[in-house]
Amino acid sequence: MSDLQKAAKRAVGQRVASMIAPGMVVGLGTGSTAALAIEALGERVKKEGLRILGVPTSFASERLAREVGIELTTLDQHPDLDIAFDGADEVDPNLTVIKGRGAAQTREKIVAAQAKQFIVLVDESKMVDVLGTKMPLPIEIVPMAATPIMNKLRQMGAEPELRMGLKKDGPVVSDQGLWILDAMFDKITNPEHVNTVLLHTPGVVDHGLFIGMATEVLVGKNDGTVERIVRATH
Ligand code: A5P
Repeated sequence: MSDLQKAAKRAVGQRVASMIAPGMVVGLGTGSTAALAIEALGERVKKEGLRILGVPTSFASERLAREVGIELTTLDQHPDLDIAFDGADEVDPNLTVIKGRGAAQTREKIVAAQAKQFIVLVDESKMVDVLGTKMPLPIEIVPMAATPIMNKLRQMGAEPELRMGLKKDGPVVSDQGLWILDAMFDKITNPEHVNTVLLHTPGVVDHGLFIGMATEVLVGKNDGTVERIVRATH
């Protein structure tokens, strides 16, 4: 990651942390950008005595939130969130996003769906005209269904790959104990169709397309500014 990219991620992290008000229940995303936002929020907890409750989207964000002093809760205790923030791998002009480079997309989607506001945090390299051109679509699956699902993805024109561990032999195992397929499409011109087909495929738990969920996107620019793109409401 370049210094400019890191600075852009830090800027959007700080911006979203400044949007959190006392008493809010906050969805805490996963990934390098969300981590910077969690750290910025932890700073506010320490310096201002800000009292909030966080709902983490992964073991990683849970551990980081504890480390920086954010009090945690669960969706069982607090099913309705005021706000959730998270990073993304690609964002298109409709604010549809691809997530899941860190394999946390299933929990991230559950948490985002419960939030009144879902704020996506990216640096400008993540903004694309058409989804799926640069990044594969992560899909969480039940292990025994890997081959049928990979065959189905090939029929859909994608090239699927089972995500393998780095410091572990064999596949990446998600926080739910499941596997991740990365499906490289030529491009995803019809995300709704891909969403429908995948969610009707037995063994698919969820995938990284977030359609109609982001209420706004904060884009960290290389010049140090933050652009705010708000979803139009009808
Ligand atoms: C985690 O599984 C992902 O959805 C991340 O939120 C996403 O990949 C963005 O990650 P970075 O903020 O590290 O780029």
